[in-house]
Amino acid sequence: MSIGERVTALTNQMTNLDDRWRDVFHAVPRHLFIPDRAWCHPDDGPGYLIDRTADPETWMDVAYSNTSIVTQINDGAADIGRGKGDYTSSASAPSVVAAGLKLLDPYDGDEVLEIGTGTGWTAGLLANRLGDENITSVEIDQAVFTTAAENLKRAGHSPRLILGDGAGGWPEKAPYDRIHVTCGVYQVPYAWVEQARPGGVIVFPWMPRWEGGHLTRLNAVGDGTAVGRFYGGVRFMMLRSQRWSRPRHEDVYRRSTTYLDPRRVVRSSYGAEIAIAGMLPDVCGAHEDQEGGEFHLSLWSDDSDAQVHYAPDYKGIAVLQRGPRGLWDELEAAYLRWMSWGTPHRDRFGMTVTPEGQHVWLDSPDNLIT
Ligand SMILES: C[S@@+](CC[C@H](N)C(=O)[O-])C[C@H]1O[C@@H](n2cnc3c(N)ncnc32)[C@H](O)[C@@H]1O
Repeated sequence: MSIGERVTALTNQMTNLDDRWRDVFHAVPRHLFIPDRAWCHPDDGPGYLIDRTADPETWMDVAYSNTSIVTQINDGAADIGRGKGDYTSSASAPSVVAAGLKLLDPYDGDEVLEIGTGTGWTAGLLANRLGDENITSVEIDQAVFTTAAENLKRAGHSPRLILGDGAGGWPEKAPYDRIHVTCGVYQVPYAWVEQARPGGVIVFPWMPRWEGGHLTRLNAVGDGTAVGRFYGGVRFMMLRSQRWSRPRHEDVYRRSTTYLDPRRVVRSSYGAEIAIAGMLPDVCGAHEDQEGGEFHLSLWSDDSDAQVHYAPDYKGIAVLQRGPRGLWDELEAAYLRWMSWGTPHRDRFGMTVTPEGQHVWLDSPDNLIT
């Protein structure tokens, strides 16, 4: 199969690509950005190593599949061949790249800032569409940055590549018509709002601490704020300065009982996820289905944690909480508040970013829920 046929087969699966972006996907072949050894990370199955030397056919098939490909683990400290550790750089799945570019919706001649160069593929697509001179891409990791520059050169492109912390944007070329962020943030750095032209757009994966991420598009409205809404679900590796880990707590638990089924809280809808993330921005959760229909939910913040255990034969559900906050009590109240609004879906929520911070709202920017 030729490269052209592979690209056609891949882009035919993507209903969100218009003809111009389709041409760009042909002009900037993805395999030029995939290292010889990388970790294929499909959504629906276990990951595995792709090795161009050992199995060139599988390597090429994966390069042209709709799958994210991990290219760095633990900031380069772990061997990619084992797939173990924190994923710290990747080539995002093509349909995810296409969704971000569609939302970005650049016009010819637009000046674009990308945060998170990664393999350089998205920067190459943008450069092909808008011209090398209009694209600036910032990458924080030296090794990733060097490889991206080589990949782009091989693909015949030379956008401006900056080694640095993209949380500060890149003021030298501001204002930007479009800012395209390809790492997750739970708090939007205000520098991006400052560096967007009035009417400009910022597209980023909002990765709050509670549950999954949401592709978000904000418009800079000219008064120093940016306002916008949430689109599809996404999962991205975090902006370096916004990574978090689980703190250890030592206090003794307080026991109580709840009658709200915790399975409903985590599985209701993306609207519930946004409402909870907006009301409880610093609360993280993890849950698992266990044998016999049992279910366990853990919650934590910097100073408190909670464990909630559901079993089919209990009427009341066991709750353990410790620290100054009752995290399950707060979660229960937030969830029931979302229900009392009529269980609104994701598309009814939005976000405003101001110099003082960010706020989530329902239906209209003046109806803050945070
Ligand atoms: C999912 S990858 C980007 C994918 C990329 N756009 C592509 O087309 O291959 C995320 C990248 O963001 C980078 N990154 C993380 N924090 C950053 C920061 N503060 N500034 C710039 N880049 C950052 C990571 O090193 C990683 O390479």
